Amino acid sequence: VTGPERALHHASNVLVAGTGLVYAWMIYLVTPEDPFALANHPWQPELQSAHILFAPLVVFAVGYSWQSHVWMRLRFRFPHKRRTGLCLFALFLPMVVSGYGLQVAVNETVHATWLWMHWISSGLWILFYLIHWMLPGPQLEGTDLCFPDDD
Ligand code: HEM
Ligand code: HEM
Repeated sequence: VTGPERALHHASNVLVAGTGLVYAWMIYLVTPEDPFALANHPWQPELQSAHILFAPLVVFAVGYSWQSHVWMRLRFRFPHKRRTGLCLFALFLPMVVSGYGLQVAVNETVHATWLWMHWISSGLWILFYLIHWMLPGPQLEGTDLCFPDDD
């Protein structure tokens, strides 16, 4: 990935995963002071809005790198960081679809299904994103593995 792509991926993931995790903490771990309060934490609606508003940034980041990074590396059987890259590739659609599915679910069963899917896919996404980032990459300079649009 190029420098700007990397910056976009890291920034969008910090914003979306960060708001998602704080929102989860408010929903499931915080006990409201007022037992009749509609939300567990006074900032819960703001966190929900922030999560929904930041979410397209991750979609944009992946779309931006799709052809040059994700698809190229899969298509040409690039060996480095491949397993975690494949996991991210597989998790991307379920994570996005379940996020939006949550908002348009028509009944409890459908909502619960999207919820499980969003939890599992986004939890694993964070895990594999961190591993994908931390694994040593190839030394591209001066080798024939270098793609022309890489930095
Ligand atoms: C990357 C890690 C992510 C984490 C940790 C995360 C976490 C969460 C959590 C905890 C919820 C609330 C579920 C509930 O009601 O109990 C949620 C809802 C939602 N997420 Fe995510 N999410 C992530 C990524 C995404 C992405 C990539 C998208 C979309 C592209 C997305 C879109 C949404 C939407 C639209 C909702 C529904 C909000 C609502 O109506 O309450 N999330 N997410
Ligand atoms: C949706 C899927 C993917 C995402 C979001 C993604 C994201 C990223 C990001 C953000 C980096 C930069 C890490 C850093 O150094 O700070 C990176 C590097 C890398 N990724 Fe991926 N990746 C994906 C799929 C893949 C696949 C499928 C492969 C291989 C088959 C792969 C192989 C690599 C390699 C070799 C590097 C280091 C060299 C470079 O920067 O291009 N990735 N990826």
